[in-house]
Amino acid sequence: MKHYTSIHDIDDMGNWIEEAKALKANPLKHVELGRNKTIGLLFFNSSLRTRLSTQKAALNLGMNPIVMNVSGDAWGIEFGDGTVMNGTTAEHIKEAAAVVSQYCDIIAVRAFPTLTDKVKDESEQVLKSFVKYASVPIVNMESATGHPLQGLTDALTISEHAQVSKPKVVLSWAPHTKALPHAVANSFVQAMQKMDVEFVIANPEGYDLNPEITGDTPIFHNQKEAFKDADFVYTKNWSSYESYGKVIKKDSDWMITKDEIGKAKFLHCLPVRRNVVVEDAVLDSDSSLVIQQANNRTYAAQLVLKKLLENL
Ligand code: CP
Repeated sequence: MKHYTSIHDIDDMGNWIEEAKALKANPLKHVELGRNKTIGLLFFNSSLRTRLSTQKAALNLGMNPIVMNVSGDAWGIEFGDGTVMNGTTAEHIKEAAAVVSQYCDIIAVRAFPTLTDKVKDESEQVLKSFVKYASVPIVNMESATGHPLQGLTDALTISEHAQVSKPKVVLSWAPHTKALPHAVANSFVQAMQKMDVEFVIANPEGYDLNPEITGDTPIFHNQKEAFKDADFVYTKNWSSYESYGKVIKKDSDWMITKDEIGKAKFLHCLPVRRNVVVEDAVLDSDSSLVIQQANNRTYAAQLVLKKLLENL
């Protein structure tokens, strides 16, 4: 594997999950693998889990992490080809990616979508520009359309907590005050499509995800119906894909409640808005796996970095 930009970079989900479990059992086993290697973590957007867990993963492999808030602290980066740079951007990605490649053996990038320009967002201009102009492996720490470190984490967490051989997993939309990206939901769909689970999606009318990603996965517009016999309910808000980036529903009838999820385990990538997305009674109960899920971010990232280091 040269880069990790998408769930499609996972060649065998079952093997990857077993490898991640082995790393979790013995996190420092490969502490010499990354000795004298540096990873640069470049954040165009905010983060708590990704920022800390990816550093922890790198440290467990003996790597030196360096972190930069690109939007706040670096020169404004230009991504357009042939642009006359007489506006706000001061440095072109061609130089920026080449320069950072000299300091780092792996570069990880977080760059969210505009949610106003579907074509631009789906072109993955920032992530793909790093892949094109850097000379080292690139890791996607959440791009316009995908969050594959989160998707791998979620697959690991479901595998660890499954009580039956083929659990029923529901991805449910829930309300939110702001327009949010589709990246987490997209990567979760792609991860579940690689697992031996009964997987369905529940979202209101007007919130169907990109059909090129959902493919044959059943979509319910009735949450209660979708939740029947669920073993896991994975909740996430996303803005409309069809009416791109718009919030077309805000009322609380799709908020996740204890009554509704019944015996199912609750997952969410975090951060989560309490009593908007999900009620306290769920998050504060034994049904919630969100803390264990966030812990697994370290081992998912560690597995990805290990595979990239082995290929350097
Ligand atoms: N789940 C996740 O990616 O969290 P952060 O945005 O805090 O990194």
